[in-house]
Amino acid sequence: MYPFQGRNLTLAILRFPGFTMSQFLKRFNSTYIRPLAVTGLLCAMMFGCGRDPEFAPNKLRIKVIETEIGQDLTATELGDVQQAVEEMFGSAEVPKLIEGVEAVSLDRLRQAAGRVYSDEQDVHFGLYRKHCIRCHGTAGDGRGPAARLLSPYPRDFRLGKFKFKSTPQGSKPTADDLARTLRMGIPGTSMPSFSLLRDSEIEALAEYVIYLSARGETERELLNQVSHTLDYSRGDRLIDFDLKTKKPADFDAQFDKLESVAKSNYAKWQVASPPSPKLPTAFPVGVVADVEDSASIDQLQKSVARGRQLFIGNLASCSKCHGEDGSGSTAPKDYDLWTKDWTVAANINPEDKAAIKPMLKAGALKPVPMRPRDLREGVCRGGGSPEDIYLRIVNGIEGTSMPAAALQPNVSEGLTTDQVWDLVNFVLNMPSVASEGKLVTANAESDQGAPQ
Ligand code: HEC
Ligand code: HEC
Repeated sequence: MYPFQGRNLTLAILRFPGFTMSQFLKRFNSTYIRPLAVTGLLCAMMFGCGRDPEFAPNKLRIKVIETEIGQDLTATELGDVQQAVEEMFGSAEVPKLIEGVEAVSLDRLRQAAGRVYSDEQDVHFGLYRKHCIRCHGTAGDGRGPAARLLSPYPRDFRLGKFKFKSTPQGSKPTADDLARTLRMGIPGTSMPSFSLLRDSEIEALAEYVIYLSARGETERELLNQVSHTLDYSRGDRLIDFDLKTKKPADFDAQFDKLESVAKSNYAKWQVASPPSPKLPTAFPVGVVADVEDSASIDQLQKSVARGRQLFIGNLASCSKCHGEDGSGSTAPKDYDLWTKDWTVAANINPEDKAAIKPMLKAGALKPVPMRPRDLREGVCRGGGSPEDIYLRIVNGIEGTSMPAAALQPNVSEGLTTDQVWDLVNFVLNMPSVASEGKLVTANAESDQGAPQ
């Protein structure tokens, strides 16, 4: 990677004996310094600096806990957590998988983890480092070198919460949901599309996201245990690695308990596997396919008009946040879950500059208020197909204030399925979007952000 470093650099100089100093410098400068500088910069941007990236402890979470309990966690407490997590999950170079986990496979994790290279069969390794680390960070903390410049910030996977999925709030996305996010990217954000990667690579990356997420959630739980459940001052230990050789049976008993924490974090992903049954297979009456047919157009226009009434009415109350014009300007100021996790949830006001300062030092990114989507732009991040928008409305967007709509029959005053489709038709035909062209039907073939 560094062709002219150290000894090689000296050799490079010696290979140009016939040059005058200035010729040499000129040549040296353009040939070596620039590429070196660029490589160095790129390398630093992508990986930190030359060193192999490692999983850093969740310093922000530690700081939040320390603020909560009013004292610092001890080196022993922190060391026990780190060692336990490493024993179960391995390192950024060599991932480990505890027995009995089905949500991911070690082979796929190995392909996604570690350094970037290809073997003789042209299988690519180090996929996460190559494609994701600069935004999502080594530990999936969403704090890669590029992160603070981006809005929204790249996702911190360690909280285990995801926005765009076919499953309801509180459930993990399905493997297909993750794969779809990777293939499509997230339109309107810096999250790129990885549609050129092979299916096997997408699968490996999706499983690596699950692994980082399970690892992050496990680390949080173990930090909670050492700070809130166990009392180290009275001799409690999360796990004592000295017992591994001295009293293996005791060690195994301690370790089994920790493994069950990790296992349950993986298991949440298995439950997510069957797709949500919420998406109706048939489109409702009044939503039509044939836009050439004037009766159909008439029905669609009526559906859009009903959708608009629902949008601004009290039943769906979308305009409370999105505004009657869809611009999103009426929403009360609010922050997303990833910011609230270390501010509001820790009794810190995100606007209080002095209070957030130690948190920023511990790795938090500056709080930026969340904004409802400006629906006039016609770009939906979770996909712009009618089905996508339907799912966003009925499931909400986890981690944000976008609520899951109340639906009949669960809520007697709630929306009917047909009314949700009316809302979908309205969103697809926001006045500003629709004015550019023809009406969009809820069963039009559209897989991309902006309706055509
Ligand atoms: C240039 C920056 C960038 C790169 C590179 C990038 N992402 Fe992202 N990613 C983002 C941003 C920004 C978001 C948050 C979007 C949002 O909140 O709407 C995100 C969100 C996600 C999500 C969460 C989706 C959800 O439903 O909540 C996943 C999963 C994800 N990225 C996986 C990956 C993987 C895997 C890679 C590498 C193959 C990758 N990303 C590369 C910027 C990036
Ligand atoms: C309490 C505030 C709030 C209410 C009420 C609300 N939304 Fe949202 N909505 C949001 C926020 C915030 C986002 C952006 C979430 C994010 O960061 O991805 C959003 C995003 C969306 C999106 C974009 C989805 C995507 O893939 O990008 C659509 C469509 C949407 N809302 C429609 C609706 C409809 C229809 C209603 C009424 C049934 C509604 N919203 C009610 C806050 C709200």
